Amino acid sequence: MKKAPVSRRTFLGHAASAGAGLCLSLAPAAAAEKPKQAAAAAARGVTDWPKWDNHEEQALLDVLRSGKWGRGNGTKVKEFEAVFAERMRAKYCIATSSGTTALLSAIGALNVGPGDEVILPPYTFVATFNVITANFALPVFADVDADSFQIDPARLEAAITPATRLLLPVHIGGSTCELDAIAGIAQRRQVPLLEDACQAPGAEWRGQPVGTKGIGGCFSFQASKNLTSGEGGAVVTNDEAFAHQVYNFHTPGTPKSGTSWGRAANYRLTEFQAALLLAQYRRFNAQQDYRNANAEHLSAMLRKIPGIAPAKLAGGNNRSAWHLYMFRYDAKKFSGLSRARFLQELNKTGIGASSGYSSLNTSAHVKALAANPHYQRIYGKDTMAKWVERNRCPVNDRVIEEAVWLGQTKLLDSRSAMEQIAETIAGIQKRSGDLARA
Ligand SMILES: Cc1ncc(COP(=O)(O)O)c(C=O)c1O
Repeated sequence: MKKAPVSRRTFLGHAASAGAGLCLSLAPAAAAEKPKQAAAAAARGVTDWPKWDNHEEQALLDVLRSGKWGRGNGTKVKEFEAVFAERMRAKYCIATSSGTTALLSAIGALNVGPGDEVILPPYTFVATFNVITANFALPVFADVDADSFQIDPARLEAAITPATRLLLPVHIGGSTCELDAIAGIAQRRQVPLLEDACQAPGAEWRGQPVGTKGIGGCFSFQASKNLTSGEGGAVVTNDEAFAHQVYNFHTPGTPKSGTSWGRAANYRLTEFQAALLLAQYRRFNAQQDYRNANAEHLSAMLRKIPGIAPAKLAGGNNRSAWHLYMFRYDAKKFSGLSRARFLQELNKTGIGASSGYSSLNTSAHVKALAANPHYQRIYGKDTMAKWVERNRCPVNDRVIEEAVWLGQTKLLDSRSAMEQIAETIAGIQKRSGDLARA
């Protein structure tokens, strides 16, 4: 399915005329909105998420009335797969029920299992870890680069052993990790590369949407994501055989072609979710442009404030998806004002900033793996005890302490709202001596 693209100018123009700086939906959609729906949309506020209007309502009703609710007899999932594959410039897309099941399908298709090591960054959502342990493979953390928050390619290469079966870097925050370096390592060391792009639909590395630098990429359409159907996910790839294996893994029954590994789950997306995604996709590119413009404006202002370091975009990253706007806060440059107090002050103005992830690699959830009887049997008690030590990531420890996040919906606010954020932070710095003493 192809939709008429909405230019950034149309979006921004409408946004400006909306007064609040952000339209709740695109101009043509807004024009068609019934008064009741428009009022409901207005009541949801500028940065509420998700945005929807009569298109989403109609899309859901159409599926309901068709009686074709599953991918088996419907058309919407296939339609969405074609749209998403085209947007990601990938040959194949397999829609799944979540980002987690997209990763599970891809890892299942690669037949990663007990005895295999998988390298991941510690600065990620716990699902990246869980999909490895679901297959009884051993997660191995490679430390991050403090400036970008992304996995450090040198650490990733150092973590490779003869047991390494998969590189699973993450495009955290929707910005890209160092894809050239990592793809080079994957090729040189003959280990498959799978991108966890769950936060990064629309992010680009040297002009190419992420997800196809290695064997494939996995995306999430969970409720907070930039493109959402409440839950949902997708695997993209240019490799036909891999696409078929992913398809075979994500649905039991008739294999697309070739032999499956004898393991298959039901991770299918429903027709309702696909219809929602198609309706949401109408806004996607314009929203991405809008976030990008606001993020660049915000970064230019924040870079001038000593002690505030917006996450640097990795070398070939010429487009972040801006799922998160991340920066590091240096308390020393704020008269020793703790990050918690800084956030308290910042959030008095309703900005909704957070401290982001807590430490994954040192969490009780991760450490518990060392005592898991299956893991002790597969890898040995000694290896599992040493594994806890092996997981140390000192740079990540620092990033965890210093990180501040704004969510993607904040970047859909007005340009002047970005200026207010920067002014508020500059104001906190001016008063930081008093605040730290209070
Ligand atoms: C980096 C990362 N990987 C995987 C996932 C899992 O996606 P889902 O929540 O759709 O299962 C998420 C979701 O937040 C994520 O942020």
